[in-house]
Order: sequence, then structure tokens, then C-alpha cells
Amino acid sequence: MIAVDGPAAAGKGTLARRLAERYGLRHLDTGLLYRAAALRLLRAGSDPAQAAAAAAAAAGVTDDDLADPALRDEDVGQAASVVAAHGAVREALLGLQRAFAARAPGAVLDGRDIGTVVCPDARVKLYLEASTEVRAARRLCELRSRGVESIDSRVLDEIMARDARDRRRSAAPLKPAADACSIDTSALDADEVFERAVAIVDSRLSSA
Ligand code: CDP
Repeated sequence: MIAVDGPAAAGKGTLARRLAERYGLRHLDTGLLYRAAALRLLRAGSDPAQAAAAAAAAAGVTDDDLADPALRDEDVGQAASVVAAHGAVREALLGLQRAFAARAPGAVLDGRDIGTVVCPDARVKLYLEASTEVRAARRLCELRSRGVESIDSRVLDEIMARDARDRRRSAAPLKPAADACSIDTSALDADEVFERAVAIVDSRLSSA
């Protein structure tokens, strides 16, 4: 079990996918669960800040929800971080994440609280960081590659707002686990991040 945590657009998804491929593990992008709960609420015209409605939406999330391309929209990401601050929502999504992690042959989960709350016993915990500007530039590229036009300052503001919400919430706030290895990806490309992560995973596996 490998945990990959970090703030928005730090490169968690790309790294987690590649690690899963390398070590023959399954991969779960746990952000999609919060996004799916948020999308259900937005489509129903409900307020993501309402805890009871948000918990009910989270309880209804199934695998089928996770393939919707609309999940990647930036307004869904913002709503997801509002939804994710409710303890009842996190509780509703915990069983699903732990069940995924427990199934053979093992898994890579990426998110915000994998090493701290979801899988505190993970064999390897990685925490990806990058400067806010670098992360905003990456998110802009990602949006453009999907044909979505946005402006730099707006993407930067959205990332900062989401980071602040994720770090300050009382339920499972975004922070590195005490035993996580941090990688600052600001000056690294995806291959370099992958190489560093593989070196960390291999050294953990050989010492276990
Ligand atoms: O892809 P990106 O890093 O932009 O976001 P994401 O991983 O899809 O997560 C969307 C939102 O879900 C985050 O801003 C968090 O508020 C929330 N989330 C969380 O609270 N815990 C997780 N394990 C994963 C995501």
C-alpha cells in the first residue's frame, strides 16, 4: 500500500498512476470521490455547505460516478473542497477507500489524508509539494489540454482558496504524515518525480 498526498496540482495523480503500473498495484484517485459527491449536489441544485445533504450525496457515490468527465471541472473541485470539510462526508467515504486499499494485490491511493487517516499503516507514504505558482501553471496547462480556456490569475486564486480550505478544516486537514517522505516537485518534471519516488519506495521495501 502506497499513500500519495499533497495539495492541488502537485502531481499526485500522475505519480500515483505510474507507481501503480510499476509495482503492479491498483490505483484510486480519492479526490474523485469528493468530486463525485460535489457533482451530485451541484446537479441537484443543493448547497455543498449543507452537511446533511453533502453526507447523503457522499453515501450515494458509486464506481459508476467516477468516469464522468465533468468531475474534472474547476467549479466541481471547489465544491469538492467544501463538501470534503464535513466530517460526515469523510466518514461516508472512508469504508470504500479502506476496502479498495485492502484488496489484493495492494494499491496506490492519492489524496489529502491517505497517510494520516485513511491508511495510517501504509508501507510507503509520499507527500508532494510545489510552489503555488508552479501548481497554478500546471493546472492551466491541464485545463488548456482539455480545451478549457482560463486566465492565470483565476486559476491561481482558485488553487489558493482550495488549499486554504483543505489545510484549515478540522476534519482530516491536509498535512504530511509524521512518517511521510516529502518531494518538492517545483523544479522537477514528471519523470524526475517518478524516479525519486521509486528510489524511496525501493529503499522502504528493501528495509521492510
Ligand atoms: O486533482 P486535484 O489535486 O486538484 O484535486 P482532487 O485530488 O481531485 O481533490 C478535490 C478536493 O477533494 C480537494 O480540494 C479536497 O478538498 C478533497 N479531497 C480530500 O479532502 N481528501 C482526499 N483524500 C482527496 C480529496
